Amino acid sequence: MPSAQVFLCLAVMLAAAAATAQAHLQCLDNPPERSLLGGQAEAGEVVHDLPGGFRAYVTGAASSSHAIVLASDVYGFEAPLLRKIADKVGEAGYFVVVPDFFNGDYLDEKKNLTEWLKAHSPVKAAEDAKPLFAALTKEGKTIAVGGYCWGGKFSVEVGKTNEVKSVCISHPYSVTADDMKVVKCPIEILGAQYDTSTPPKLVYRFVHVLRQREEVPYYAKVFQGVEHGFANRYNTTDPFAVKTAEQALAYMISWFDKYLK
Ligand SMILES: *[C@@H]1O[C@H](CO)[C@@H](O)[C@H](O)[C@H]1NC(C)=O
Ligand SMILES: *[C@@H]1O[C@H](CO)[C@@H](O)[C@H](O)[C@H]1NC(C)=O
Repeated sequence: MPSAQVFLCLAVMLAAAAATAQAHLQCLDNPPERSLLGGQAEAGEVVHDLPGGFRAYVTGAASSSHAIVLASDVYGFEAPLLRKIADKVGEAGYFVVVPDFFNGDYLDEKKNLTEWLKAHSPVKAAEDAKPLFAALTKEGKTIAVGGYCWGGKFSVEVGKTNEVKSVCISHPYSVTADDMKVVKCPIEILGAQYDTSTPPKLVYRFVHVLRQREEVPYYAKVFQGVEHGFANRYNTTDPFAVKTAEQALAYMISWFDKYLK
């Protein structure tokens, strides 16, 4: 592990608007446009037989000695913007795997969140993904995980093992300050000013824990003017949303470059 250099760049702004947390679950806002899946825009392909039994979107150079597993939000891997992100991470020199952790059973407004999470616990998914990480490692690849919402919790769980070299979580769902006490690898946290799942206050609690653990490098940033989902389910016709999502992606890639390459 590199010298225990700790980075902190946190601009917490507790705007009054953020205090009035909305009751509705932001995890379901701006659903992916599945009709745009596939076609010439996608650089990768869907494979059906990865170790662990996963279907996955894979992209980037299979020969790369560095693999990135991107863990989706509750909408799963059939998401054009997530695949675009995966392609861009691939262009940065990585082999990228976006597993279908839900076997097609994505969350939607009609499903009971509690029930759905019981069937698709990110903690259990991290266990189930062990064969996938083992196979990538056996191929001589070092691995990092980038996770969004549900995938944020998945990433943190994997980050508690020795399977990966670094993780980046964007607007995570159900990640706790206690998780930060036991994460083993360098962790980057990308939050949003108006995220009601992981509000800036909670990001600051993560930082408070990590600051006392000099052995674990971290970086945290709260993006201003955006909500939960800003990094992978942004409004593609809103220039500010596009720019902010591109920034989040750049931060994630830099983090992987720093702790994986
Ligand atoms: C969702 O499921 C839980 C656990 O089974 C149950 O307690 C709850 O009432 C359900 N919620 C709705 C809105 O149906
Ligand atoms: C997306 O952004 C455009 C341009 O700012 C706006 O007109 C439109 O209402 C937004 N769409 C959604 C779903 O928020």
